[in-house]
Amino acid sequence: AQSLRESLFVVNQFASEYFRDVLYNHIDGQRIGMTYLRGRGFRDDIIKKFQLGYSTDSPDALAKAAIQKGYKEEFLVKTGLCYRKDNGSLHDRFWGRVIFPVHTLSGKVVAFGGRVLSSATKNVQMKYVNSPESEIYHKSRELYGIYFAKQAIVRQDRCFLVEGYTDVISMHQSGIENVVASSGTALTSEQIRLIHRFTNNITVLYDGDGAGIKASIRGIDMLLEEGMNIKVCLLPDGDDPDSFARKHNATDYQAYINDHEVDFIRFKTNLLMEEAGKDPIKRASLISSIVKSISVIPDAIVRSVYIRECSQLLQMEEKILVEATAKLIEQAR
Ligand code: CTP
Ligand code: MN
Ligand code: MN
Ligand code: MN
Ligand code: MN
Repeated sequence: AQSLRESLFVVNQFASEYFRDVLYNHIDGQRIGMTYLRGRGFRDDIIKKFQLGYSTDSPDALAKAAIQKGYKEEFLVKTGLCYRKDNGSLHDRFWGRVIFPVHTLSGKVVAFGGRVLSSATKNVQMKYVNSPESEIYHKSRELYGIYFAKQAIVRQDRCFLVEGYTDVISMHQSGIENVVASSGTALTSEQIRLIHRFTNNITVLYDGDGAGIKASIRGIDMLLEEGMNIKVCLLPDGDDPDSFARKHNATDYQAYINDHEVDFIRFKTNLLMEEAGKDPIKRASLISSIVKSISVIPDAIVRSVYIRECSQLLQMEEKILVEATAKLIEQAR
């Protein structure tokens, strides 16, 4: 007998094929879904590769199709594809949306994201609907795009980290395939270890407006802890990895990254220095924050390189930073 987990993957696979069938063969799939995707500039081969789909504007189309094919209600509910209403009837989670299947490292469909079609969404909360956590889906363990990126990550010995589905897809389309997304949430240590299986080198690509950078800094300390080399690349003001990919081919994109990526510790130091200005209290807290980042780096040689560099940037005696770092490491023991 199939285990519950296997059954849930089977139902997800059915749903993924169903959403794709709707996109390609249903009148609304073509007229609405495909028009939206092409309108955003996605090429047909890329739409196919990422197995994008469409769910019609009907609240139980998937449920009906699945039940008719003999899939059990229980599994439709446990994957989160459907839920039961108070009156007992089955209701689809995804409808009137373009569908982004989320694949595991080995390519199994583990979850879905669905995007509304209007670009001007009044309620930003509802722009995407995502599968809930389930027996098979733990958001903190998956990375969008990892299945399509893993070979390129090994080949390039580097992984780009972006925010969303469309960033990953557009970069692939422009020819940059070593890219994954944390899907809008802070990176977890499980996700970091997943990347670390393939490379030591991560470059985080941020939007030009710089929003969200501060929130991500804590997540990045975890990357240092894993002993990874982490760089940050800011895109031009107003661009995100998706829009930048539309304007540049892979060669120009790579060149931009190579020219603009900076080491994370240096990035953080500069960012915090700008913020602190001459305020002594802020300066003191920025220095302890940087010392904290350095102290989690496992390799002593790497630590000492950073300490030297930061002592120059901060115009502080190296000895003081060495001692503060040593103290933190001692405390963490
Ligand atoms: N996200 C989400 N739910 C939301 C908003 C965002 O799950 N309500 C996740 C999605 O994985 C999304 C990522 O966070 O891809 C980044 O969010 P955002 O930048 O708002 O979306 P984009 O991916 O840029 O999508 P688009 O370009 O279509 O607006
Ligand atoms: Mn579990
Ligand atoms: Mn975005
Ligand atoms: Mn390593
Ligand atoms: Mn976007």
